[in-house]
Parts: sequence; structure tokens; C-alpha cells
Amino acid sequence: MGERLAGKAALITGASRGQGEAEARLFAAEGAKVLICDVLDEEGETVAQAIRDDGHTAHYLHLDVANEAAWISAVDYAVQEFGGLHVLVNNAGIGLRKPSMLDISREEWQRVLDINLTGPFFGTQAAAPTIRDSGGGAIVNIGSIAGVTGHFATAYTAAKWGIRGLTKSAAMEFAPWNIRANAVHPGIVDTAIVAGSDDFKEAMEWMTPMGRIAQPEEIAAAVLFLASDEAGFVTGMDMDVDGGFAGAGAYRQVLLRAMAQPGSKI
Ligand SMILES: NC(=O)c1ccc[n+]([C@@H]2O[C@H](COP(=O)([O-])OP(=O)(O)OC[C@H]3O[C@@H](n4cnc5c(N)ncnc54)[C@H](O)[C@@H]3O)[C@@H](O)[C@H]2O)c1
Repeated sequence: MGERLAGKAALITGASRGQGEAEARLFAAEGAKVLICDVLDEEGETVAQAIRDDGHTAHYLHLDVANEAAWISAVDYAVQEFGGLHVLVNNAGIGLRKPSMLDISREEWQRVLDINLTGPFFGTQAAAPTIRDSGGGAIVNIGSIAGVTGHFATAYTAAKWGIRGLTKSAAMEFAPWNIRANAVHPGIVDTAIVAGSDDFKEAMEWMTPMGRIAQPEEIAAAVLFLASDEAGFVTGMDMDVDGGFAGAGAYRQVLLRAMAQPGSKI
């Protein structure tokens, strides 16, 4: 397909399905050697095999991102298989949508923070020295528009706002190592994390200027750009990929309301 990541090795977490799978397939098609990491082993092996069947390079490795020691093994495995590591995509995440934060238990809070924020922190710690030793590269953290606005998912929202801080601190610290760090904040994407939440998706379509939710490939395209050398001077940035939800969604509703009321003094 292309060569936008030719010669690069990439580790993508949560890549057994959804956005991570789309990123793994796109990265491989653009020349990267890809290490698919997840806790869904069968699905991950299937994705890796499909990428190999297409003539590209991919392996699957079981990695619970909340397990600090497992991160060291994962980065070692990438070096062993690919000879180095240039790109880390911290994509793995879980959801927890509860209308009231009063209903979130300590265990639920901790689990969401462990996977969605501490995991990317462990990943950054484990991978950055190896990316440096491989000649530099990029870290892309998958946040959410929940990390750009408030949201009725308090633990998730807190973790995603934390992703922004982690990203900016990594960008500052690792720039001298020729490592860029950026965050992508998807709007609602058609994946398992929102499966069955039809009312939520419908409401988000209503609030989104583009009038629809995203497909995983649309997020992967943005991640590819930030992972590639095309983004060589881009670091410490937040990129919303949300159909205009965070930037223009509220005013769209003001506009629609005014248009529905003839003579409205907008
Ligand atoms: N789908 C959306 O609407 C949406 C919107 C904004 C942000 N996001 C974020 O995008 C990222 C990808 O989610 P998705 O939409 O593809 O959903 P998904 O549920 O399809 O994919 C998430 C993946 O992460 C994996 N995972 C979960 N816990 C893990 C752990 N402890 N260790 C390793 N892997 C683990 C899952 O097995 C799964 O393969 C997540 O960080 C999510 O928070 C999703």
C-alpha cells in the first residue's frame, strides 16, 4: 500500500480488535513491523495472522498493560523480533459509563485508572529508552473527547484527562531523545466499547456536526500521521478526531434550534 512507516517497528496495545486492530493493519500496510499486544489472545493471533497473510510483518503478544513487569518483556520481545522499536501506540482501554460518580466503587475507579492511565505510563517508561536507542520515533496516546470535556463517566474522564498530561510531559522530557509524543482524542467510534449503547450513540450523532460516529480506520489514519516522520515537528499536541463534537458541537445545537424557530433572534 505505502511506505509511510517503512523501516519502523511499532508496538500497539489493545490491537486485537477495534481501533488498535485498524492501526495494526494500517501500520503494517505502510511498511511497519507490528507487535500486537492485548489480553484477547485468540483475536490478537487472528489479526497478526491476517496481516502476515497479506505479506506484512506482525506478531501477537499477550500484554496486560496494567502489569508493569510484563511491559519490560513486551519491549524486549519487540527488540528481539524486530531489532528495535520506533513507535508505541498506547491504545488499550476500557469504558465505565455511569450516570453518577456517586455510584463508582473504589475498585472500579482503580481498574479504569490502572488500564487507561497507569498502563500508558508503564508503557512510556518501558519503551522510551529503547525508542531512543533505536534512533528515535513517536509515542501516540489514545485519549478521548472525554478528556477534552466533562463526561458522565468520571473515572474514564479522569484517566483520559490524565493522558493529556502524560503526553505533554513525555513530549517535553523525550524531545532530546528524538521522541515525539502526541495524543489523539476520538469521538464516538463504532467499536465494542460502545456496542449496544444505542441511545448514547444516537445522542452523540445529534451533538456531532458531522452527524455520525467514526469508523476505526478514520482514527487510525490520524494515528498513522502522528506516528510517521510526516509529523516530524509535531509533539506535545492533542488532536481531536471527533467530527467537530468538542470544537463545534454545542454551537451546532444552538444553530439547529434557531433554524427550527422562524424569527429566532440568534
Ligand atoms: N470507541 C469509542 O467510542 C472511543 C472513543 C474515544 C476513545 N476511545 C478509546 O480508544 C481506545 C480503543 O478502544 P476501542 O474503541 O477500539 O474499543 P475496543 O473495546 O474494541 O478495544 C479496546 C482493546 O483494549 C483491550 N484491552 C482492554 N484491557 C486491556 C488490558 N488490561 N491490557 C491490554 N489490552 C486491553 C481490549 O481487549 C480491546 O482489544 C481506548 O483507549 C478507548 O478508551 C474509544
